[in-house]
Amino acid sequence: MELPEVLHHSGFADLLLVHNALPELDWDKLDTSCSFMGKKLKAPLMINAITGGHSGVLGINRELARAAAFTGIAMAVGSQRAALDDPAVRDTFSVAREFNPEGLLLANLSALCTLEQALEAVEMINADGIQLYLNVNQELAMPEGEMNFSGVLENIRNLAANLPVPVLVKEVGCGMARETVAALADAGVRYIDVSGWGGTNFAAIEGRRGGKGGIALERWGIPTAISLLEALNAGKTISVVASGGVRTAEDAAKALTAGASLVALAGPFLRVLKKRGPEGLVHYIGELISGLKRVMMLTGASHMAALARRPLVITGLTAAWLKRRGIDIDCYARR
Ligand SMILES: Cc1cc2nc3c(=O)[nH]c(=O)nc-3n(C[C@H](O)[C@H](O)[C@H](O)COP(=O)(O)O)c2cc1C
Repeated sequence: MELPEVLHHSGFADLLLVHNALPELDWDKLDTSCSFMGKKLKAPLMINAITGGHSGVLGINRELARAAAFTGIAMAVGSQRAALDDPAVRDTFSVAREFNPEGLLLANLSALCTLEQALEAVEMINADGIQLYLNVNQELAMPEGEMNFSGVLENIRNLAANLPVPVLVKEVGCGMARETVAALADAGVRYIDVSGWGGTNFAAIEGRRGGKGGIALERWGIPTAISLLEALNAGKTISVVASGGVRTAEDAAKALTAGASLVALAGPFLRVLKKRGPEGLVHYIGELISGLKRVMMLTGASHMAALARRPLVITGLTAAWLKRRGIDIDCYARR
């Protein structure tokens, strides 16, 4: 089986759910709720890290937080580095907690941050957990990007051992292999967001901004569906978030059937907020949840744990990759 020369999709098209014409379920009793980091959510969705750090974006975080609170989904703020350097912009992040006092809210910093910085980021928004991001391909494409990543795993180990809240390590669009996920789990990390290839593409964005010169590796990364299944087969007890190119309720349902604990979107939420305003964003999240319920009905799953037991047929490039990597895909199709 040949791997196509160029990978250019998030991989969800390779994951097929099996239709159930006899679901024996009542729409009004379908339950999309779940728990994550000890908090209950109305649906397994998250507004992923997007923004913060200059006065112009305070309104964006306020509306994202309002939408998360209204719809009962999780949210992460964007990198809080700017507020560590300039306390005047702290409110562009703390506004997210102000408008979502009870919800699941995650802090966000580079995995290269210090323990003191991470503690400050958590305290700034009274966070339930912290996302630490790995973004090597982006840094390599940025004019002033970081070039030294040595010691990052040890740093994560130290942060996971000493922070008072759970640590989630995420990529920003290049995904993670199971070896990476296993190393992170051995370093004490219990939450991973694969944030794979196929959605927002920072190497492309930085390249178009002029970047470092030379050719940005825009097609570099592990497609999200593949990365998700790699992470879930790392042989570790971890919760995995699926993000990176999740664009439809069907994509989300496929990720949840594969075993994701949560599904996160970034680019689409920002675009919808800009184009359709706060009410449009709430409506869009409602449509995603309703679409998820449709797939639950059509697969015969009354709740999240049931959806995670439905059969999933893995085809195409995703199947070829996983087989070559020694990951059993038939167990998903035959359950
Ligand atoms: C405008 C924008 C800003 C982002 N800023 C951050 C950030 O500060 N920290 C981070 O971890 N990820 C950041 N991300 C990455 C997202 O959290 C996510 O991993 C990535 O965009 C893939 O998801 P998507 O395809 O749904 O956009 C950003 C994404 C977007 C679109």
